Amino acid sequence: MDNNKPIGIFDSGIGGTSIWREIHNLLPNEKTIYLADSKNAPYGEKSKEEIIRLSMKNTDFLLNMNCKLIVVACNTATTNAIRELRAHYDVPFIGIEPAIKPAAIHSKTQVIGILATKGTLNSELFNKTTEMFYHTKIIEQIGYGLVELIENGQMESPEMTQLLQSYLNPMIDANIDFLVLGCSHYPYLIPQIRTILPDHIEIIDSGLAVARQTQNLLNQIGFNSDNNKQPIFYTNTNPKVLQNILGSKYIVQEKDF
Ligand code: SIN
Repeated sequence: MDNNKPIGIFDSGIGGTSIWREIHNLLPNEKTIYLADSKNAPYGEKSKEEIIRLSMKNTDFLLNMNCKLIVVACNTATTNAIRELRAHYDVPFIGIEPAIKPAAIHSKTQVIGILATKGTLNSELFNKTTEMFYHTKIIEQIGYGLVELIENGQMESPEMTQLLQSYLNPMIDANIDFLVLGCSHYPYLIPQIRTILPDHIEIIDSGLAVARQTQNLLNQIGFNSDNNKQPIFYTNTNPKVLQNILGSKYIVQEKDF
């Protein structure tokens, strides 16, 4: 095995760059290839079959680029397709799931909120996880419209503020003390969310946990790279929003996949 092969990371769009950033910070010697399937975003409203098909298409692309490991940096794709991906391909996969466990364990009010896509909240994997925390009241809210606005670069628009207020105010009234962000796009909304939530409510996402899991897996199987290379970013739509999020240090390439 050539340890200097890249780590492949895919998402339905630009949101998974929040996971990429954590991986890149923790594992700066690893070459990464990031795939933003923005043409097909959002995945959250699609059928399970379609999410599996798109996840396989992304995986095929990354395996053609010789990736040694695939990070599914999308909650909707993880909760709906990771079992099928693991069964179909002979390469390790790491997925991202909403951080229900730490929130439920540390909650003092025993009420937590989760904001995620319809696809994630309706998935079998998510519902199995929440069953384990039956002693905690979990307020689920589908983030209708949020991914679309983020993909259009409208994170700070009045429309976004209005949507977030309508999703979060009922959770505040229900006395949550943790808000779980169950979609890799949502960490980009933390500044706006922070202005709505009272200070005592903690926001948690799974980015760092995924990076640590990636590090542990590489250590376990001895796949660590010592080859510091520039990350590569591909998108199948106009690269402007992705490029804005990443800044001028990185180059985004438009590609049909
Ligand atoms: C989506 O594509 O709908 C959101 C991505 C995610 O669930 O992380």
